[in-house]
Amino acid sequence: MDIREIAFEVYQKSLMNSGFDGFENSEISTQDMAFIKRLVMTTLRKQEFLKKVINKYSSKPMPQKMQPTHFLLVVGCAEALYFRTPTYAVVNSYVALAKKIGNKYSGGFINAILRKICTDKENILQAQNVPFFTKTFRQILQKDYTQKQISLIEKYSVQEPPLDITVKKDFEYWATKLNGKLMPNNSIRIQSAGEIAQLPDYNNGEWWVQDMASSMAVKTLKNITGLKVLDLCAAPGGKTAQLINAGANVTALDISEKRLQTMQKNLARLKMQTIKTICADANSFLQECKEKFDIILLDAPCSATGTLRRHPEIVHNRSVKDVEQCVTIQKDILKNIDSCLKKGGTLLYSVCSLAKDEGEKQIINFISTNPQYKIVPITTELFDNKEADSLQEMITEEGFMRCLPCHFAEDGGVDGFFIAKLKKEK
Ligand SMILES: C[S@@+](CC[C@H](N)C(=O)[O-])C[C@H]1O[C@@H](n2cnc3c(N)ncnc32)[C@H](O)[C@@H]1O
Repeated sequence: MDIREIAFEVYQKSLMNSGFDGFENSEISTQDMAFIKRLVMTTLRKQEFLKKVINKYSSKPMPQKMQPTHFLLVVGCAEALYFRTPTYAVVNSYVALAKKIGNKYSGGFINAILRKICTDKENILQAQNVPFFTKTFRQILQKDYTQKQISLIEKYSVQEPPLDITVKKDFEYWATKLNGKLMPNNSIRIQSAGEIAQLPDYNNGEWWVQDMASSMAVKTLKNITGLKVLDLCAAPGGKTAQLINAGANVTALDISEKRLQTMQKNLARLKMQTIKTICADANSFLQECKEKFDIILLDAPCSATGTLRRHPEIVHNRSVKDVEQCVTIQKDILKNIDSCLKKGGTLLYSVCSLAKDEGEKQIINFISTNPQYKIVPITTELFDNKEADSLQEMITEEGFMRCLPCHFAEDGGVDGFFIAKLKKEK
């Protein structure tokens, strides 16, 4: 299959509500894979602008419900404007594809528009000032953030993020070896990392990829050696690996068999002991479980609106309604946790969402109906790093952690993320 056709298909799929969870094809070379990924990401990040450009050069505006030829044209327009592909190659490739996927007019339609766009490329690029966020997506943030905050979140969400790595130990040694920067939470940040499997010691399993924000949830737990931890919603296992690395006795549960398999593969590369793994719905498990745990980690299913830097498709397929659905799912799981948590135990809750209904407000509501739970304020000392004070901007008055894409902006930002640590009374 042609690489542009794959990019077009991945782009279309990623716009469906299920989102895009990466793709694998062993027949595609690493170089082609990188091209496809860059083309899809660029198309998603620039989609609103690209549609505007197409409307300017087309006699008919793009329809609300786009047809395959329109999706293809958006991808072609992204390549024409943001890649160095010669005009004849861009036009010929997309015209050939249009003839394959569209109707008898598609080839001519794409030919006419792409030619005009290629001719006018310099002027078009100079005039680009169309926002990344759609109106529908903006509504999610308007509930919780000021216009100024939304602009900052938008500015840093559209950028390609650096690669963050969590190491088992010897942070400074690995920062040097991986040619990265040691961040104040002991994550190692690599700018322009390239192919992950080509980085030093990938196969030796001394480190794994994990956004700095996401790595901080488990880092707020101290001295957990030998403690019984239930990791609900565990796959693909970034936090599970941290828990195992800290010496906990982990039970990892997830509803998705496929994602659990990925987790097993990841843990095997990290040479981590086999742990108890359960494929089940968290609610059914909690309702039937007779065991009690010292710690329950709920890294809950959420709108994932904090992960826009790596998942720009989320801007095009999330609405306030999706956030509301996630709030209900999280609330249901939280409701069932108490019977499985020991008295004096810790409930660690996190979501990679920017919406406070899924974070701050969810937890405040939980405590109001479950007064046996108290907030354990998160403090910067927990992160064992001499620069950890700089994490203070992420700590809220209530003692939660609220990470935003504009935090640590000079180093490339972080994912939007929320963490709450609660203690159940004895
Ligand atoms: C945010 S991801 C977890 C990321 C993981 N904790 C990590 O650090 O790598 C949420 C996970 O919740 C799982 N999930 C969604 N609904 C669930 C349910 N009802 N019960 C259990 N797991 C669920 C999804 O399959 C997904 O793997």
